[in-house]
Amino acid sequence: MATTQPFDMVLFGATGDLVMRKILPSLYAAHRSGALHADGRIVALGRTAGDLSDYLAQVQAQSMPHIKDIGDDWAAFAARISYLPLDAGEKDHFQRLADTLGVRPDRVTVCYLATAPRLFTKICAGLRDVGLNHAGVRVVLEKPLGHDLQSSEEINADVARHFAENQIYRIDHYLGKESVQNLMALRFGNVLLEPLWRREWIDHVQITIAEEIGVEGRGDFYDRTGALRDMMQNHLLQLLCMVAMEPPANFSADAVRDEKLKVLKALRPFSADDLALRVVRGQYRAGVADGQAVPGYQDEPNVAPESSTETFVALRAEISNWRWSGVPFYLRTGKRLAARLAEIVISFRDVPLDLFQRPNSLQSTNRLVIRLQPEESISLHMLGKEPGEGMRLQPTVLNLDLHAASRRRRADAYERLLLDVIHGRLGLFMRRDELAAAWSWVEPILDSWAREDTPPRPYAAGSWGPAASNALLSRSGAAWHEEI
Ligand SMILES: NC(=O)c1ccc[n+]([C@@H]2O[C@H](COP(=O)([O-])OP(=O)(O)OC[C@H]3O[C@@H](n4cnc5c(N)ncnc54)[C@H](OP(=O)(O)O)[C@@H]3O)[C@@H](O)[C@H]2O)c1
Repeated sequence: MATTQPFDMVLFGATGDLVMRKILPSLYAAHRSGALHADGRIVALGRTAGDLSDYLAQVQAQSMPHIKDIGDDWAAFAARISYLPLDAGEKDHFQRLADTLGVRPDRVTVCYLATAPRLFTKICAGLRDVGLNHAGVRVVLEKPLGHDLQSSEEINADVARHFAENQIYRIDHYLGKESVQNLMALRFGNVLLEPLWRREWIDHVQITIAEEIGVEGRGDFYDRTGALRDMMQNHLLQLLCMVAMEPPANFSADAVRDEKLKVLKALRPFSADDLALRVVRGQYRAGVADGQAVPGYQDEPNVAPESSTETFVALRAEISNWRWSGVPFYLRTGKRLAARLAEIVISFRDVPLDLFQRPNSLQSTNRLVIRLQPEESISLHMLGKEPGEGMRLQPTVLNLDLHAASRRRRADAYERLLLDVIHGRLGLFMRRDELAAAWSWVEPILDSWAREDTPPRPYAAGSWGPAASNALLSRSGAAWHEEI
């Protein structure tokens, strides 16, 4: 594994949940694997006045439980960390940061903004004021990047006032999954799949990101956001782009992102008439999760009692281009569903003639399943001959996950993306125009929901969502892939 160059990783919001649960454990994993340069510093910033020992005590209590395997090298990792109190509203605090880091364009300085997006403008201006927007600085922006097209454009315009686009890393951790990159390798590294990767041979595509958990104490945030903004506009559309994009001219960041943008721009817009047919929104009621009774969404803390915020959305997307015209892309995401599952399923068309009198269960079985959660895997589902006499078919699954067969550790998505930022690789990060195109496509849905007074369809916690979500597929003879 290539070791990074010397770097400073500046964590805004270092006392927060994201840094504790994801960023620090991922940096530690990178440290353990030898991927971080010995001269790599982690500068943790929080509003709370305190010193390094207070911060390390917090790390011990809140971050270490999220690390599977802590070794003797923890002390060397902890030695990379320093702590600095910084309030984004206080200009002189940025000067203190600049004094700590030094203004050194020759040094990679990653500023990870793990704070509420309303602070992005202040933080970027504060960095600029003290010269920390030089060519060596990269800013990482967490979601949610806006509430709609306009607010997203405002944030992006503010950040662009101080940083060039190639300094901005908009993170979507689903793109950091090994299986998503393996999909690229399988598609573009082989001659076998690409001829089949089109409307003539693909019946439909499904993308699911299902969560078993509810709003987990984030009712206030979630009630203002909902599943469409929180998951569909970003993660599911990004995964759709990875499936549907044309082969890029090369693997440079902009060549890949240009192709993704073309997909987003080719998404067939929703008309007022077909919204009801193509989009299903739902909200969970009381039910059972993990064997325990759980309350309905409207009874969650900090959720309005008559809230109409959707906790589930399923939709049928179509891409108006020569490759995909007429192929439905079914996308769904929700909270309090039957399982924690994230996967992409490419369903191929059936053979033109059934020579084997297959039972219904063996019709249309050719599928490529790219699973991202709970475990990553990639497998091709086919039919083969049942051993023995006669000619009966049975399902067979080809495991295409090279990682499963190797002894190499599978890096977590955040770890891979953090290393990409330090290395200066932008390919797995969203460009501003992609974000705008994604918002433009989902906005008519948001507008229509805001106008209409029909509430979301109820579904029991622990189920797969409202029945209408099944009807989206069954109209064309398909069904959601729900094999766990
Ligand atoms: N948590 C996740 O799993 C997750 C996943 C995806 C995206 N995100 C996004 O990542 C961001 C951070 O999420 P989080 O869950 O870590 O939030 P959080 O637990 O509320 O932490 C927020 C952090 O921001 C700091 N902060 C607040 N006001 C500040 C100010 N004026 N100046 C400087 N720092 C300030 C807080 O410092 P104090 O401790 O001093 O208040 C804290 O460290 C949010 O935009 C969230 O939507 C989070």
